[in-house]
Amino acid sequence: MGEVTVAPISLWASDLVYTARMIITCKRSLRPHIFSALVVLVAIGAGLVRAPGATAQTPTPAPDPSDIADGMRLYQQKGDCQACHGWAGDGRKMDSQMPDGSNLRETRLDRARLIMTIKCGRPGTGMPAFDKFAYTDGRCYGMKQADLKSPMPDPPATLQPREIERVADFLFQKVVGKGPMDRAKCIEYWGSEVEACREFK
Ligand code: HEC
Repeated sequence: MGEVTVAPISLWASDLVYTARMIITCKRSLRPHIFSALVVLVAIGAGLVRAPGATAQTPTPAPDPSDIADGMRLYQQKGDCQACHGWAGDGRKMDSQMPDGSNLRETRLDRARLIMTIKCGRPGTGMPAFDKFAYTDGRCYGMKQADLKSPMPDPPATLQPREIERVADFLFQKVVGKGPMDRAKCIEYWGSEVEACREFK
């Protein structure tokens, strides 16, 4: 976007400078007027050029509390992430038959990579892909079914891109980088002093 806007404006600006120089050399008396006109034009041009960059840097607003609650439900129920990662995301899995999920509280993944991992899973491990179209069209690491050394495990359910965003919102709000679960965090996490919090002194 940036480059597309910059090229015509700078061409246009250099044309203007050229025209201005011609006029200046011909009619020296016009110089102050042309100079101020150019200043205005350059300022407008700069404003137009900077606009797209400024939009991209606008910080993402804090997610809606109801989105966090949705994400938490998806984590616990539809996605059943807790079967392998534990309800607290700390890797203490809920189902002993399931593969050992990693400790999501300590993950170093940024949002984009975390979302990619949920969509595409992690080939060669027990982490399933939740995107319905993972490994069909190269969207996951440029690979298709035939490129996988071993088939991916089936996910408990596939998730819509929007649902995966909600799970990520939830994880970054309540799990990632929050340190080990303790009693206070447990009560905050569940919204009340539930049975699960009794194990924490
Ligand atoms: C069947 C078990 C299983 C389920 C269900 C599961 N995971 Fe995983 N997950 C794993 C395993 C095993 C790993 C470790 C992969 C490895 O060894 O790199 C993992 C890794 C991850 C990672 C990468 C962490 C890191 O720091 O590298 C993320 C993020 C993740 N899972 C999120 C989720 C989410 C969110 C869900 C639910 C939508 C989910 N997982 C469901 C088993 C599971």
